[in-house]
Amino acid sequence: MINGEKKVDRPIRWAMVGGGRGSQIGYIHRSAALRDHHFQLVAGAFDINPERGKDFGMNLHVTPERCYLDFQQMFEEEAKREDGIEAVSIATPNGTHYEICKAALNADLHVVSEKPLCFTFEEAKELENLAKKKNRVVGITYGYSGHQMIEQARQMIANGELGDIRIINMQFAHGFHSDPVEMNNPSTKWRVDPKFAGPSYVLGDLGTHPLFLSEIMIPELKINKLLCTRQSFVKSRAPLEDNAYTIMEYDNGAVGTVWSSCVNAGSMHGQKIRVIGSKASVEWWDEQPNQLRLEIQGKPVQILERGMGYLYPEALQDDRIGAGHPEGLFEAWSNLYSRFAVAMEAADQGKELNDMWYPGIEAGVEGVRWVENCVRSADKGAVWVDYQ
Ligand SMILES: NC(=O)c1ccc[n+]([C@@H]2O[C@H](COP(=O)([O-])OP(=O)(O)OC[C@H]3O[C@@H](n4cnc5c(N)ncnc54)[C@H](O)[C@@H]3O)[C@@H](O)[C@H]2O)c1
Repeated sequence: MINGEKKVDRPIRWAMVGGGRGSQIGYIHRSAALRDHHFQLVAGAFDINPERGKDFGMNLHVTPERCYLDFQQMFEEEAKREDGIEAVSIATPNGTHYEICKAALNADLHVVSEKPLCFTFEEAKELENLAKKKNRVVGITYGYSGHQMIEQARQMIANGELGDIRIINMQFAHGFHSDPVEMNNPSTKWRVDPKFAGPSYVLGDLGTHPLFLSEIMIPELKINKLLCTRQSFVKSRAPLEDNAYTIMEYDNGAVGTVWSSCVNAGSMHGQKIRVIGSKASVEWWDEQPNQLRLEIQGKPVQILERGMGYLYPEALQDDRIGAGHPEGLFEAWSNLYSRFAVAMEAADQGKELNDMWYPGIEAGVEGVRWVENCVRSADKGAVWVDYQ
């Protein structure tokens, strides 16, 4: 159980690029990083508009001289300080991640990057190699993977409770962009512009989330081939898609699907993963994250509840309040940020991590690779492609 006691020797001096006033995802980064006191927010280049960013940083109690105009200035100035930053989170639009991550690694900083890590597999491998060379951690905020019931599913699968894994059905299909809301919403506008969003919209923005859940639940599965079809129901979004289906064949004969959509009218979030084995299935839905549905063939359905003593210890170790009280996405993100801190300290001290997992640079590379393969398949006319 997590009760706020320290997991690292001292808080890591931390900064943010992006995540400024009015941004969608900035606050959950700060809330997650600061909740367990594993990080200390000491600097930032929070906004594309430097003045607004500075004002915002000061409102977060960052000292004025450490609210920077841009990330380049921040990395340069912080490197000169005895108490300079040791880690940075990148919460800017997609098109900037590669450049900022590369600059941060070159400044010997640990990084927490928003997904997608970058636009191409080639760039992703370059960042991976740089992170290895520099011995720096790059955490990727696949935040849903921090939910306790994801760990429970992972343990159940590893212990053979489902039998042989045959089918993985995934979806992240909300309805919030059923209309061209981007006309009046800056946070959505860049998402449908390839210059800022990259080669895909919903595949990268949404589909990669349940995909990572599958990677964590069933780490041994490797994709052999996939087929993807993508559509732009709001025509002005073309060439980027607002809906896509991907079918995958894995190397052990299992199959999987991912439905990525922002035009699933009426759906709040619609992120689900159902893993089907030869004996039983589990299903998790992010709108009810405290529950995991277990269906054993021939038996009544069971709903496993977060925080209960019958869960695996590996799942319970992320519990914060005990069963009954709901936990949510903020706690899940905090669980990940705690792991990022432990990984960063281990890297600094040259220690092994034992078997603690976190969404690291490999997860970032894999997300970029999957999107690239999906787009290749879709743009060839929805054909099967070997996974490259
Ligand atoms: N992990 C998740 O669950 C999740 C959820 C939402 C968004 N995201 C990702 O987070 C990132 C940001 O998304 P958002 O919805 O918060 O975007 P947003 O448009 O709402 O906010 C972006 C913020 O970055 C700032 N910014 C832009 N360029 C900058 C630069 N060069 N330097 C400093 N600041 C800069 C903007 O001023 C703004 O404050 C995206 O990559 C998105 O894919 C992830």
